[in-house]
Amino acid sequence: MKNLVVLTGAGISAESGLKTFRDSDGLWEGYNIEDVATPEAWQRNPALVQQFYNERRKSVLEAKPNAAHYALVKLEEQYNVTIITQNIDDLHERAGSTNVVHLHGVITRSQSSINPELTYPISGWEIGMDEVCELGSPLRAHVVWFGEAVPMIETAAKICMKAEVFMLVGSSLAVYPAAGLINYVRREVPKYIIDPKIPEVNMRGELTLVREKATIGVPEVVRQLLG
Ligand code: APR
Repeated sequence: MKNLVVLTGAGISAESGLKTFRDSDGLWEGYNIEDVATPEAWQRNPALVQQFYNERRKSVLEAKPNAAHYALVKLEEQYNVTIITQNIDDLHERAGSTNVVHLHGVITRSQSSINPELTYPISGWEIGMDEVCELGSPLRAHVVWFGEAVPMIETAAKICMKAEVFMLVGSSLAVYPAAGLINYVRREVPKYIIDPKIPEVNMRGELTLVREKATIGVPEVVRQLLG
């Protein structure tokens, strides 16, 4: 089976009711990144950061996978599929995808605030300010903040190098190092971009642009690929 790699961003979950970051009415219109998504913000005002991610978690738990998430599951019938997602929701897994790499962590787990390798499942939607890890330090959301390392980036780059078909769904490619992953995909690999607003990319070789929302464009491309 061919290796098929899908890089997803917030746009794939938009029609599940989860806001993107940079569209009008996106999350970063209502919040400053510096106030809620950096290590400095956590130092300054941990309660605000905790509350921000508790609210995100509540929305994620209330959301359901959509037709785009489900279509990607079907690809596994004929391809060796890896989904590399920038999203912190778990909608790919809940749809049934079996091989998902989370570049920016996953909101349904908590993380020690002194050792990022210590992560735990969360029951319910809230991490309390009094909850601590096994080392006694406060628990925070298991997400990668701006200014933090992206531990999965090397793994993701290696996966992209082995891609034989590549899809990009719903990402503005505004954030590095994730955006740089497209440079690891080989020239001869067929590439598909599905997004109502195609990001500016410098991708060589056979490139198919599908200017559609994910729930329309992804099932369409999947039908072609399974054809
Ligand atoms: N279907 C497909 N794509 C859509 C849809 C939709 N229904 N709605 C919006 N989009 C597209 C937008 O056109 C845009 O290109 O999704 C993209 C969303 O871009 P961003 O909001 O920048 O989200 P993303 O690229 O995932 O952001 C990357 O930034 O703040 C961080 O850590 C956060 O992982 C996130 C990273």
